[in-house]
Amino acid sequence: MTPSWPVVELTGVSKTYGTVAALADTELTIERGELVGIVGPSGSGKSTLLNIMGTLARPTAGAVRIDGHPVAELSDRELSALRAQSIGFVFQSFHLAPGVPALDSVADGLLYSGRSRGERRALAERALRRVGLGQRLYNEPHQLSGGEKQRVAIARAVLGDPPLLLADEPTGALDSKSGAVVMELLHELHRAGTTVVVITHDRDIAASLPREVRLKDGRVEHDSAAGPHRDAYAAAHAPREVGV
Ligand SMILES: Nc1ncnc2c1ncn2[C@@H]1O[C@H](COP(=O)(O)OP(=O)(O)OP(=O)(O)O)[C@@H](O)[C@H]1O
Ligand SMILES: [Mg+2]
Repeated sequence: MTPSWPVVELTGVSKTYGTVAALADTELTIERGELVGIVGPSGSGKSTLLNIMGTLARPTAGAVRIDGHPVAELSDRELSALRAQSIGFVFQSFHLAPGVPALDSVADGLLYSGRSRGERRALAERALRRVGLGQRLYNEPHQLSGGEKQRVAIARAVLGDPPLLLADEPTGALDSKSGAVVMELLHELHRAGTTVVVITHDRDIAASLPREVRLKDGRVEHDSAAGPHRDAYAAAHAPREVGV
């Protein structure tokens, strides 16, 4: 049974750094199975928003629920468990350790999962095949193209099948062709049921996503899922029941 509560629920969320309001009084609900683009100028609060959704940053005010869990009420240990089980991260700069073959980079994502080394490597190999890198298992980062590195990072992020995948400018360091491959992969994961939130500067990419949230000066300036189109949007994008 698919849970019915939202994957992300932000209520009155603000984040200030000194006198800078990186995020101001934000309301945002993301339902299971959505694919959402976050857009806006540099400094508008996109990464801040993503880091709060990813529980990497705590808000200064407001409430955050991720996959139904009230983040403020969780201990550090519970928060780490939530992050490990429910959230996958992808960043512009890949975050792959130099000198480590792709298979190990991905398998290390399961280091604290209690699985044996053999199991971890078998799952990593499956994830790398899923992103089309079955022929690159033993390549180190310097032996991979930018697009391939990002696909390794995505394989690592989705290894434990997290319900929520957060991507901060995943195509920002890539040429348009590799960027398109990475975006197609995110669309595929979305079709397979993962909720995907992707920050992008690219207007074409943003326009290709079913929902767009636009930030300006730390505020949601526009949300294509809100306003007069909300009901039609909700009907068109209602999460599908598994097995129906
Ligand atoms: N750790 C921090 N300390 C102080 N100020 C910060 C910190 N992180 C972000 N800010 C400020 O908060 C605001 C929002 O930053 P954020 O990184 O969320 O923007 P962004 O939309 O992701 O921009 P970009 O497109 O350049 O990545 C900016 O004014 C930034 O300078
Ligand atoms: Mg940013």
